Amino acid sequence: MQTSDGSSQYAATYAAWQADPERYWAAAARRIDWDRVPQRIFDPASGPYGRWFPDARLNTCHNAVDRHVAAGRGAQPAIIWDSPMTGRVETLSYAALLDRVSRLAGALAARGVGAGDRVVLYMPMVAEAAIGMLACARLGAVHSVVFGGFAAAELAARIADAKPKVILAASCGLEPGRVVAYKPLLDAAIALSPHKPNAVLVLQREQAVAELLAGRDEDWLAAEVTAAPAACVSVAATDPLYILYTSGTTGKPKGVVRDNGGHAVALRNSMAMLYGIEPGEVMFTASDVGWVVGHSYIIYAPLLTGATTVLFEGKPVGTPDAGTFWRVCAQHGVKAMFTAPTAIRAIKRDDPDGRLLSQHDLSKLEALFLAGERCDPPTAEWCAAMLGKPVIDHWWQTETGWAISGNFRGLGLFPARFGSGGKASPGYDVAALDEAGQRLPPGQSGTLAIHLPLPPGCLPTLWQADDRFRESYTETYPGWYNTSDAGVVDADGYVSVMSRTDDIINVAGHRLSTGAMEEVLAGHPDVAECAVVGIKDSLKGQVPLGLVVLKSGVAKGDAAICKELVGLVRERIGPVAAFKDARVVARLPKTRSGKILRATLRKIADGEDYVVPPTIDDASILADVEGALRGIVR
Ligand code: COA
Ligand code: AMP
Repeated sequence: MQTSDGSSQYAATYAAWQADPERYWAAAARRIDWDRVPQRIFDPASGPYGRWFPDARLNTCHNAVDRHVAAGRGAQPAIIWDSPMTGRVETLSYAALLDRVSRLAGALAARGVGAGDRVVLYMPMVAEAAIGMLACARLGAVHSVVFGGFAAAELAARIADAKPKVILAASCGLEPGRVVAYKPLLDAAIALSPHKPNAVLVLQREQAVAELLAGRDEDWLAAEVTAAPAACVSVAATDPLYILYTSGTTGKPKGVVRDNGGHAVALRNSMAMLYGIEPGEVMFTASDVGWVVGHSYIIYAPLLTGATTVLFEGKPVGTPDAGTFWRVCAQHGVKAMFTAPTAIRAIKRDDPDGRLLSQHDLSKLEALFLAGERCDPPTAEWCAAMLGKPVIDHWWQTETGWAISGNFRGLGLFPARFGSGGKASPGYDVAALDEAGQRLPPGQSGTLAIHLPLPPGCLPTLWQADDRFRESYTETYPGWYNTSDAGVVDADGYVSVMSRTDDIINVAGHRLSTGAMEEVLAGHPDVAECAVVGIKDSLKGQVPLGLVVLKSGVAKGDAAICKELVGLVRERIGPVAAFKDARVVARLPKTRSGKILRATLRKIADGEDYVVPPTIDDASILADVEGALRGIVR
C-alpha cells in the first residue's frame, strides 16, 4: 500500500511546472471563479518578491460557499461539527452555511466593517469560527484568528497590531476537565491593547455564559439572525484575506499575510493533487482553527473544493478515548485525515495494539496525512501498520500555507520513506544551502530554502512590515526564501527536515518562540539571566526548559522562584506554551563573545554526548549545568 508507484506522474507534473510556472498556475487558476479572470499570472516587480494574479478580482467566500449552492450542492454537508466535548454532532449544509455567513456578514457590515478592515476572532472549535472567517471574506475584510490557548497579553499584542474594527469571540472554550472562560481573557486583552474595537460579538455557550459590556458587547446570534444578508464584495486577488500571527524569534509575533487569489488557487489545487479530495468527499483535519493547518485544511481548502469538512472539538485521547479519531472517520465517511504526529503518539501510547482502532469501519479512509513537526519513523510505521493505508508526512509552515513537500495522492503515490517529508511540491524549488547560500550536493545537510518566487498561497509579505519580511526570510540568502529549517535533499529528491535553525520550538505541533519565553523569565525581579531551550519529549516532540541565573542576594528559595516562573509564562503566553520546568544554575555556558551555548544545553538536557565547544568561555560551568539537569530526559 505504501509503495504504489506514482513517481513518473509526479516527475512529469513537477517538470511541467519547472518548464513554465506561469502556464502551470494559469491552468490551476481555472478551478476558481473570478470576477475578473487573471490576464497576468505573475508580476515580479511588486511586493518584496513579486505578486500572483496582479490584475484579477474574485471573492473567496463566493468560491467557498455561494458557487457550490449555485451548482446544486446546497443540501450537501459543508461542515460537520463533531464535539465529544459536548456530546453533540451537527451538520451544516452548504445552503445553511450560505445563510449564516451572509447574515453574519450583514451584521458585521452594520457595525462598520468593510473591505480591508480587520476583524479578530478568538474562538474555540465551533462552526461559528468558520462562519466568522467566511463572513469577513465575504466583505473583503481581513480576519485574524487567535488560538484559544494564548493568554490575554498575547491576544492583546495581536489586537494592537491588527487594529480590528470588530472582535468575534465565544464565551468559552472547552478543555478536558475545565471550561476556559474566554471573555475575561478578552476583556483583559482589550484593556491592555492601545487599540480598542468598536464592537464585540460574543457567541454565548451554555458552559460559561459571559457578561456583556453595555455599549461594546453584543450577543452574536441575536446580531446574526436580525441582520440583512450581505452580498460578496469583489476584491483584488492581491488583497489580504487574513493575517495569522506566528512565533518569530523575538517576543513580537509575525503577522503572516495571505492574499485572496493565490490562496484560493493554491489550496484548491492542493486538494486534488496532494490529498486526492474532490467535491462531495469528506476531509477530517484534527487541528485547531487558530493554526495554519486549521485555516487551510479545516476551513478553506475543503470548502473551496465543495467537499465536506469535519470540525472536531476534542482531543486525540481522553475524549472519551484513543479511538475517537477513528470513530469520527467511520461515522462521517472520511476519505482523508490530517493531524500532527504528536496526536498519533498519544493514540499509540493509549492504544498500542490498535484495539480501539479495530472497532471502527475505516474502509472509506484512504490515507492519513501528518505535518506540523518532524514525524519520527516509529510513529509513522506504527500508524501505517495499524491502518494498512498510506501514512503521508508532508512539510510546511504557517508562512507557506500549504505543503512545501509531500507525497501526492492525485498523482499516484511514489514510494514513501519514513523520516522524510516527501518530495518538493510542484511550485517549490527546494534546496539545502551552505552558509554561503550555495546549493549543497544531494544528501548534505544545510539550511532548507525555497528559490524565489514563492508559489501562490504563500505569504506575499508580513502585515505592514515588508522590511521585517526581507530581514526574516530573504536577506540571508539572496534569491531564496529561508525556511529556518535544517535538513537534507537526497539524490532522489526526498526532503528530510531535521530541526529549526532559529529559536523556534515545536511543542505538540504548536510553534512557539523560546525568545518570547525568555522575555517573560527575564522580567522576573529575581532573575539575572536566562535561557529557554526545547528539549526532547516522547509525547510532545519538544517541551521548553528554562534555565535561570538568579541575582545575587536573592533570599527566596529556588523552588519557589521556579514555581513563579512557570506561573508567569502560563499567565503571559498561555497554557499552550507547556512551560512546566525551570531550573536554577550558577552560570550559563557562553562563548567568549557572550553567546549562550543553547545547542550544548539541549544536548545535556537530552542526555546526549556533546563535545565541549572550543569557543566556550569557561568549561567548568558545564558540570554545574549537568548537575541541575540530571535525570531530566523524557
Ligand atoms: N484553549 C485553552 N487552552 C488550551 C487550548 C485552547 N484552545 N488548547 C490547549 N490548551 C491548553 C491545554 O488544556 C493544556 O493545559 P494544561 O497545561 O492545563 O493541561 C495546555 O494548553 C497544553 O495543551 P496541549 O498541547 O493540547 O497538551 P495536552 O497535554 O493537553 O494534550 C496532546 C496533548 C498530544 C493530546 C495534544 O497536544 C494534541 O492534541 N496535539 C495535537 C496538536 C495539533 O493538532 N496541532 C496542530 C498542528 S497540525
Ligand atoms: P507552523 O508554522 O506552526 O506550521 O510550524 C512550521 C514548522 O514546523 C516548520 O518550519 C518545521 O520546523 C515544522 N514542521 C512542520 N511540518 C513538518 C514536517 N512534516 N517535518 C518536519 N518538520 C515539520
